[in-house]
Amino acid sequence: MTDHGGALLKVSGLDAGYLGVPVVRGLDLTVGPGEVVALLGPNGAGKTTTLLTISGLLPAIAGSVKVLGEPVNPRRAHRVARRGLAHVLERRGLFYGLTARENLRLGHRGGADLARALDYFPALVPLLDRQAGLLSGGEQQMLALARALAGAPRLLLVDELSLGLAPIIVETLLPLMRTIAHDTGTGVLLVEQHVHQALEISDRAYVLVHGEVAVAAASDELVRRRDMLEVSYLGENAL
Ligand SMILES: Nc1ncnc2c1ncn2[C@@H]1O[C@H](COP(=O)(O)OP(=O)(O)O)[C@@H](O)[C@H]1O
Ligand SMILES: [Mg+2]
Repeated sequence: MTDHGGALLKVSGLDAGYLGVPVVRGLDLTVGPGEVVALLGPNGAGKTTTLLTISGLLPAIAGSVKVLGEPVNPRRAHRVARRGLAHVLERRGLFYGLTARENLRLGHRGGADLARALDYFPALVPLLDRQAGLLSGGEQQMLALARALAGAPRLLLVDELSLGLAPIIVETLLPLMRTIAHDTGTGVLLVEQHVHQALEISDRAYVLVHGEVAVAAASDELVRRRDMLEVSYLGENAL
């Protein structure tokens, strides 16, 4: 074991944003092995900015991000990937002109465990030779998730898995995040607009409002204490 105190991800005093202007301020957040952590909050709160900074795609303005005990260096973002972080981007980041199979292989340099990834998404198996752009939204999201899992990540970041998907698809895909964390010990950090479904499958949740953590609590506590959520979402989102 390495000496990162058990945390796969440790974010401390993070200011994150664009061109030196923070949109996220003073963020402290951790994800442990096998843990599903939800990052919630209204549109524009800074959730995507947080994930981009964690994976080194955006430089931190202040504070620190450690993945598996080591600081993330934005000039070497690929190293974070090799260390075991996978990031499913907000708009899935697929190559729509390539087949599903080609998308799965991309970025994995032959070391990809496609069989393991497809175990979780059997519906993709008959579609592997189809162009990603011709898949349904739900199939595309499965493909993006399978591609992330093919690299056997220790830490998985998922930005708005449910974006544009039918509720029935969301009800199938979100619980899979729980299953994967449970089966593999992967830590999952999930940005989600479907607040109640996210709370059902997560261990802990952070609610980001205007770039600051308004609430951080166990998910089951937030389910019981709707008022804590409603205050932070006031005027946003039907809870
Ligand atoms: N590339 C960018 N340049 C400047 N500001 C940005 C950029 N992307 C997002 N922002 C701003 O940062 C804030 C947080 O955005 P974002 O992290 O995307 O929020 P969320 O994912 O919670 O909806 C918003 O005010 C947004 O307008
Ligand atoms: Mg976002």
